Amino acid sequence: MLSLVEVTYHPPAAPRPILHQVSFTVPPQSLTLIVGVSGAGKTTLLELIAGLATPTQGQILWQEQALQATDLQELAGLVFQFPERHFCGLTLLEELRLGHPELTLEQVQQVLNTVHLGEVPLHQPPHHLSGGQQRRLALAVQLIRQPYLLLLDEPLAGLDWSMRQQVMQLLQELKNTWSLLVVSHDTRELSGMADQVWRLEEGKLNKL
Ligand SMILES: Nc1ncnc2c1ncn2[C@@H]1O[C@H](COP(=O)(O)OP(=O)(O)O)[C@@H](O)[C@H]1O
Ligand SMILES: [Mg+2]
Repeated sequence: MLSLVEVTYHPPAAPRPILHQVSFTVPPQSLTLIVGVSGAGKTTLLELIAGLATPTQGQILWQEQALQATDLQELAGLVFQFPERHFCGLTLLEELRLGHPELTLEQVQQVLNTVHLGEVPLHQPPHHLSGGQQRRLALAVQLIRQPYLLLLDEPLAGLDWSMRQQVMQLLQELKNTWSLLVVSHDTRELSGMADQVWRLEEGKLNKL
């Protein structure tokens, strides 16, 4: 179980804290949704939890133990907003093995089955997939590292209705195994499947 305890983030360039004493817990096998308008600090919050930035004050805990950025990088898998823009493998296989050449074909096939891309040939270029398939591949890229916590930044952004349904169906399945933390400016679509919903407003987190 991951907890944030009064996490404040105030980089020198910002006139006031981007995040102010943010506290919450992500239970296992659940989906936590944080909503907020553009500029509310959602992406910054995910960057702190992914160990890409360090809180100015406060702690990020695993069970009772305080974590450093390097621990968080292992524990969390961050799927960026528009993750398909960051694909750099020439094929699905290459994309999934980037940085992990030791992964077997069996492991690659297994994670593709998990995201319902098991029928797609491994030599297919990622950019030949549909928008919904690309989002599912981006999830597979993180899942194959076996993180404890999956962080998703605006997972439905830019998708049409049917592709959003595909991604939502997959998130519903994934939360049976993983802890998911989703941030979105959209309050409606994802709140139905969320176990807890918070609103981030002017750097402060309030339970909905
Ligand atoms: N390193 C930084 N220094 C100064 N300001 C930043 C930094 N990172 C983000 N910001 C500002 O923090 C605010 C929150 O940004 P962001 O986390 O991207 O919000 P959201 O994802 O909710 O749209 C924005 O006003 C942004 O310009
Ligand atoms: Mg953002």
